[in-house]
Amino acid sequence: MKKIFGALVLLCTFVNLFAQNSYPIIPKPASLVTAEGKQIIKKGMSISFSDSSLLPVVNLLQAQIANGALPVKWVPATKRSSAAIHFAIDQNQPREAYKLQIGAKQTMITALSGPGAFYAVQTLLQLLPVTPDVNPSVLASLPQCTIEDKPRFGYRGLMLDVARHFFTVEEVKRYIDLMATYKMNTFHWHLTEDQGWRIEIKKYPLLTQVASIRKESMVGAFKDQKFDKTPYGGFYTQDQIREVVAYAANKFITIVPEIEMPGHSQALLSAYPQFGCNPDKMYEVRTKWGISEDVLCPREETFQFVEDVLTEVMDLFPGTYIHIGGDECPKTQWKESRFCQNLIKQLGLKDEHELQSYFIRRVDKFITSKGRRLIGWDEILEGGLSPNATVMSWRGVKGGMEAAKQQHEVVMSPNSHFYLDYYQGEPKGEPLAIGGFLTLSKCYSFEPELPELTPAEAKYIIGVQANVWTEYISTFSHIEYMTYPRALALAEVGWSPKGTKDFPAFLERVKQHLPVMDSRKINYSKTFLKQ
Ligand code: ACM
Repeated sequence: MKKIFGALVLLCTFVNLFAQNSYPIIPKPASLVTAEGKQIIKKGMSISFSDSSLLPVVNLLQAQIANGALPVKWVPATKRSSAAIHFAIDQNQPREAYKLQIGAKQTMITALSGPGAFYAVQTLLQLLPVTPDVNPSVLASLPQCTIEDKPRFGYRGLMLDVARHFFTVEEVKRYIDLMATYKMNTFHWHLTEDQGWRIEIKKYPLLTQVASIRKESMVGAFKDQKFDKTPYGGFYTQDQIREVVAYAANKFITIVPEIEMPGHSQALLSAYPQFGCNPDKMYEVRTKWGISEDVLCPREETFQFVEDVLTEVMDLFPGTYIHIGGDECPKTQWKESRFCQNLIKQLGLKDEHELQSYFIRRVDKFITSKGRRLIGWDEILEGGLSPNATVMSWRGVKGGMEAAKQQHEVVMSPNSHFYLDYYQGEPKGEPLAIGGFLTLSKCYSFEPELPELTPAEAKYIIGVQANVWTEYISTFSHIEYMTYPRALALAEVGWSPKGTKDFPAFLERVKQHLPVMDSRKINYSKTFLKQ
C-alpha cells in the first residue's frame, strides 16, 4: 500500500512538473521567457493591488486561485508590495496588453486597465496545476517566467445561432466564460431567423408571442425531410438580455446583436405579415432548415418597424456594432412585386441587388445617426456597399478582400476555415452535421492578412470570427463538442503575432491543455487526436 502511495506521489509530482515546465498557454503569448523554479503560494499569503480600477479583476482571480484562501489588500503605488501576487497600472501598455512576471517570491501583473489585467489573469489561471499539490501546505504553485503579451487583432469573435435552436441564459453565459478564457472579446449573438425570433421587443409583442414558436422542427438529415411534430420555441426577455450583456462586460466581452434583414425574416412575417411583399399570405414560422423566399418588403412602414426594433436593440446593447444580417435574401418576391418594381424605377436603380443596397443604406444611415456602426454579411457588397458598413466575410475571403480594397472594415469569418458547424472528422464517425469538412489544422492555418492585400488595405482587417450555426445542434454539450478545440485555433489566429504560427507546437499545447478543459468539464471533441 505504502509503495503504491509512494509511486502515486512520484507520478503526481512528475505530472505537475511536466505541466508546469511546458507553459501550455492558449492563445500563445507574444513573448514568453521561461525560468527555472516555481513560485510556491502558501497559507497566510495575499493578493494586492495599487489601483482601484483593477479591483474587479483582482477579485476574479482571488475567487479562482487557492480555493479563495488569499485575502486581497490595497497597497499604495508609492509602496512596495510583499503580496504573493500584485497588480499595478502601467500607463505605457496598449489597452488589451499585459505583463506577467512570475518570480520566486512574487507574481507581478501590470496593465493599462481592466482588459489587460484580465488577460494576464487568464494566462495565470492556465498555468496553475489542475491537481492539488502533494504537499498540503502548498495552496498553489506557478512556473517562473516573464510574459509580455498583446493581441494581434482588436476583434476576436465567436457567433452563436440561438434561433435554429435556443440556448438558455445559463448556457449563453457558459459560452461567454469559455470565450473569455481564451481571450476572445466579441460575442456575436444571432437572435433572429426564419425559424424563430428570440429577443423581446416591447413595441411588437407578437415577435415573441407568435414568431418565437415554430409548430415543429426538422429532424435528421435534410434529404429525409422528416419533422418531429413538436412545437419548439424560446426567447430572451429584455431583462435577461441586460443580464447577459453585463455578465459579458465583466469579462471584457462586447456583444454584437444580429437582427436579420431583409432576408431570413419568415418568422417575423408570421407575426407581422404587413412587412412582407404579400400581406395576405399565411406566413408561418419556418419549420425546415434552408433559405426562405419570404423577405421584408422595402416599404416605409417596414423601415419604421426596423427602426423601432433597432432602437430597442441599441438600448439593450451598448457596443459599437449592430449586425443586420443582409445575407441570403432571395429576390423572387421583389421581382414579382409591383411595389418593388415601381420603387426600383422611381429610385433609378438597376435591379433588385441595388434595391437591397438601398435597404441596407437606409438602415446604415439610421444606425450611424445613433452613433453606432452597421455590420453585415458579405452580400451587403452586392449592389454597392453602404458608406459606413463593416463587412463580415463568410463566403470565403473574396468579399472581405473587396471590402478592404474599398477601405471598409472587415471581419474575416470564411466558411472555409471558421464554420464550426462543419464536420471536424470523417462524417461516419461524427454526429450529423450540416456538411463541410473543417479540421483543427485547417482552422488554425487561416491567415487573415491575405497576400493579395497591400499593407494599407490589410489594415482594414479588424479581426476574425468563427460561427456556430445550430440547425443540426440542439444541445449545449453538442455546441461545446463543435466549438472546442477548434475555437482554440480561432483564438490563436486572432491573438498571436503574425508569422509565429506552428501547428505541431500548437497541437502539443492543446494536448497539454486538455486536463484544464477536463477540469472545466468542457465537452470538447477528441477527433483531432486521431488525425
Ligand atoms: C451565412 O452563413 N448565411 C452567413
